[in-house]
Amino acid sequence: MTERNQQEMTSLLKKQVSRRDVLKAAGIGGVGMLLGATGVGGAIALADVFPSSQKKENTNDIVPFYGKYQAGITTEVQNHIYFAAFDVTATNRNELIQLFKDWTDAAAAMSEGKSIGDATDNKFLPPVDTGEVAGLTASNLTLTFGVGPTLFTKNGQDRFGLQKKQPAELKDLPKFPLDSLEEQWTGGDICIQACADDLQVAFHAIRNLARIGRGKAVLRWGQAGFQRTKQASPKNETPRNLFGFKDGTVNPDVKDPAEMNKYVWVQPGDGPDWLVNGSYLVVRRIQMFIEVWDRTALKDQEDTFGRYRDSGAPLGQKNEFDKPDFEKKNDNGEYYIPKTAHIRVAHGDGSQKILRRSFSYAEGMDAKTGTFDAGLLFISFQRSISKQFVPIQERLSQMDKLNEYIVHRGSAVFACLPGVKKGGYIGETLFS
Ligand code: HEM
Repeated sequence: MTERNQQEMTSLLKKQVSRRDVLKAAGIGGVGMLLGATGVGGAIALADVFPSSQKKENTNDIVPFYGKYQAGITTEVQNHIYFAAFDVTATNRNELIQLFKDWTDAAAAMSEGKSIGDATDNKFLPPVDTGEVAGLTASNLTLTFGVGPTLFTKNGQDRFGLQKKQPAELKDLPKFPLDSLEEQWTGGDICIQACADDLQVAFHAIRNLARIGRGKAVLRWGQAGFQRTKQASPKNETPRNLFGFKDGTVNPDVKDPAEMNKYVWVQPGDGPDWLVNGSYLVVRRIQMFIEVWDRTALKDQEDTFGRYRDSGAPLGQKNEFDKPDFEKKNDNGEYYIPKTAHIRVAHGDGSQKILRRSFSYAEGMDAKTGTFDAGLLFISFQRSISKQFVPIQERLSQMDKLNEYIVHRGSAVFACLPGVKKGGYIGETLFS
C-alpha cells in the first residue's frame, strides 16, 4: 500500500466509518498492489470483481434512527428479524443510563451502515466492531428498544428508582387457556428488536449491542425470524406464513397518522408522560404443528383461517383485500366464514385493532415431540395492551379453530420508548 493510500485508510478508520468506505479504501490499496503485480489489465479486472467499490454510497437502504418515534414499528417490514430479550445486571441507575447512552450511539451508527466505536488497528486489542458486516450495506436495519415490567420492579424491589414510573399497562399478561409457556422464551427487562433485509446485519447489531452491554445486561433469550425476501417476491405480495396462508392482510394503515395515533402510539393522558409517542410491544413465540397441518384437507385449512389459501380472499369473496362478510351464508344456510374461523374471532366487533409485525421462525427439532420447532414469532404493537391485545387473545384462546394446530410457548411485553433526537439517548424521558 502506498503512503497516500495508507493515510487515506487511517483517516477513514478514525471514527464510525462507513462499511462501504472501508471496502473502497481496500479497493484503492488493492488496485495499487495489483498494478504493481499485473499492470493495468489487473486493475480493470479488480474493478469488475468488486463493482460495489466503484459505486456511490447507497442511502436508499438506510432507515433514519433518530426521530419522533422509534424506527422498526411503522417501518415497512424487512426480510429478517433478530429479537433479543435482556436481563439487566447493572446494580445502579447511573450504570443503566450509561448503557442506554452507549447503545444509542452504537445503534445510530449501525443503522447508517457504519462500524461501531473508534476503529483501531492495534493488533493487541480485540477490534471494537466484530466485523462480519464489513462491506455490507445498512440493509434497512432498524433497532427498536423496549423496557419490560421487571425493569421497574422485580421481587418487590424498586431496582433503579423507577417503580413510580411503571405504567399500569406494563404488567405480565394474564394466563390464557392452552398457554404452554416456557421460561426460556419468556420475559425480559429490556428488549431489542433488530430488523433488516439481511440476517447477518440484524444479528451483528444484536451481537454488538450485547457486547457493549457486558457487565450491565445479559441475553435472556433470542429468536431469529424470517419472511419471504423482497428479492423472492418482486411484486411485493403479502408474505405467507408456514401454513401457506397470506399473513398481514388486515392491519392498521401505517401511512395514516390518525390511525397510528388511535391504535399504536401512546398519547398524552394515556399513562405516564415519558411513554408518549412510544408503543407497547407484545411478543409471543407460537409453535405451529406443521406436520399435523400438512395432513389437513384444504377445506379445513381454509375454514380454520376463514380465507382462501390461494388468493388470500375472505371466504365468500374474490380478492385478498375484499372486506370479509361475516353474515354471508352459502346455499346450505351455513356461514361462509365459520364461527370459529381465526379472522372472525380475531376481528370480534372490529373495535380492537393491533399492528401485527410478525415473522416465521424455524429452530431445528422439538426434542420432546420429534417434530419441527417452527412457527410464528408473533409481534404486535398497540397503544394499550389491556384494551387491544388482551381481549383479542382472550377470544382466540377460547374458540379459535387454529388452536388445534398451534401452541404458545413464549411471551413477553415491553414498553417501546419514544424516539430520540440527535444528541439525546433512548430512554431519556424515562430517566429524566
Ligand atoms: C401462529 C399463530 C397465528 C397465525 C398463523 C395467524 C395467522 C393469521 C392469518 C393468516 C390471518 C389472515 C390474514 C391477515 O389479515 O393477516 C390473521 C389475521 C389476524 N390475526 Fe392472526 N395468526 C396467529 C396468531 C394471532 C394472534 C396471537 C393474534 C392476536 C392476539 C392474532 C390476531 C389477528 C388479527 C387481529 C387478524 C386480523 C383479523 C381481521 O380480519 O380483522 N393472530 N392471522
